[in-house]
Amino acid sequence: MGIKEIIGCYSVLFLLIIVDADGVWSISKEEDMELEKQLKILNKPAVKTIRTDSDQIFDCVDIHKQPSLDHPLLKNHKVQMTFDDFSESMKDRPLKGKGLSGFGVGCPIGTVPIRRVEKEDLIRAKAFSKLHMKTYAKNSHPLADTPIHLSAKLAANDKPIYGVASILNVYKPTLISPDQVSGSIIYLSTGFGDDSKSVVSVGWAVMPPVYRDNFTHLFAYWTADNGKTTGCYDILCPGFVQQSPDFALGRTFPGSNYRGSQIGINVLVSKDSKSGDWYVRVNGASVGYWPKELFKGAFEVAKEVNWGGEIFSPRQPCPPMGSGHFDGEGIGGACYISGMQYQTAAGGNFVDIDPALKAFVDSPQCYKASMPSYESTGYTFLFGGPGGQC
Ligand SMILES: *[C@@H]1O[C@H](CO)[C@@H](O)[C@H](O)[C@H]1NC(C)=O
Repeated sequence: MGIKEIIGCYSVLFLLIIVDADGVWSISKEEDMELEKQLKILNKPAVKTIRTDSDQIFDCVDIHKQPSLDHPLLKNHKVQMTFDDFSESMKDRPLKGKGLSGFGVGCPIGTVPIRRVEKEDLIRAKAFSKLHMKTYAKNSHPLADTPIHLSAKLAANDKPIYGVASILNVYKPTLISPDQVSGSIIYLSTGFGDDSKSVVSVGWAVMPPVYRDNFTHLFAYWTADNGKTTGCYDILCPGFVQQSPDFALGRTFPGSNYRGSQIGINVLVSKDSKSGDWYVRVNGASVGYWPKELFKGAFEVAKEVNWGGEIFSPRQPCPPMGSGHFDGEGIGGACYISGMQYQTAAGGNFVDIDPALKAFVDSPQCYKASMPSYESTGYTFLFGGPGGQC
């Protein structure tokens, strides 16, 4: 089962995704032992345990004892409580529509929320990464025009970028089967090419292969070697250092209603000019960061930056992307990414993107994307579509 049957649609930007048609997730004995070890690291003693309205369990763990500090490259790492870099010029812009107040986890100060995981979560994540490496190898260029890449995105390639700030309009696409994924992301990498490619990415997604439910989740992903041996979603492996007692990777939140109330998250990913760490802010709060140690010094600047919608499906028909409606419906009808800014110097001001960036759509009959237009919340990129036979 598996690889050969993956003839449907998938997106390279959702790294680490594997779906086995009959739901069997297989790993080797060595991997199993490794996962047992990892599980022990991830499930630390909790100061307090919180069960959310969507039945997720978060353990509030002492910030200085969080799982990521067990990473061998972080042996001497001191948790950064704040980043001085964060100046007035980088203030988060107002959201159009509702933000996400009330969707924190609410751990006590001095602790951070760590989503409790079972072995099956790790097996799935591991199995994903195996498929990804095999399918990715067939496609030398992630933006190549092949029928299995389904994304609608805006790309700033070969431009040195040190940070990205945008408002992500959030939806909860209804998937056709539980082995599909649909979401929207900001993605930064060292660029195309070899196995040393480093990636950091933040967004929202309905991702049952990882989360085992149909909710929309805040998620993040990183790798230091193109997904070969390092990296994972959220904190499914040690790496991302959580700072906020409240906003948590993996947390569920509600989606917008088509032509109704709109939900947005203000997402900022930036390289701190002093420490070199890549940090993440959501709605003005420091969520956490990827320490530079993880990237072996190789991730000094991002050379490949994408914003947009992504779907994955092991077979046809493909799921909806964004609101399930095309870009032409505008804000309220189509999903958008707004207030699009980036940093073109380390620790520099956030400036509006160049509106001449390239828009890519892999399957125009299923999904569409607009060129960015200037709205009251800044440069706005609309994308999405109903999916179907793509
Ligand atoms: C999620 O939705 C799919 C169909 O889209 C359904 O088959 C599955 O049972 C749902 N999963 C849960 C956990 O509700």
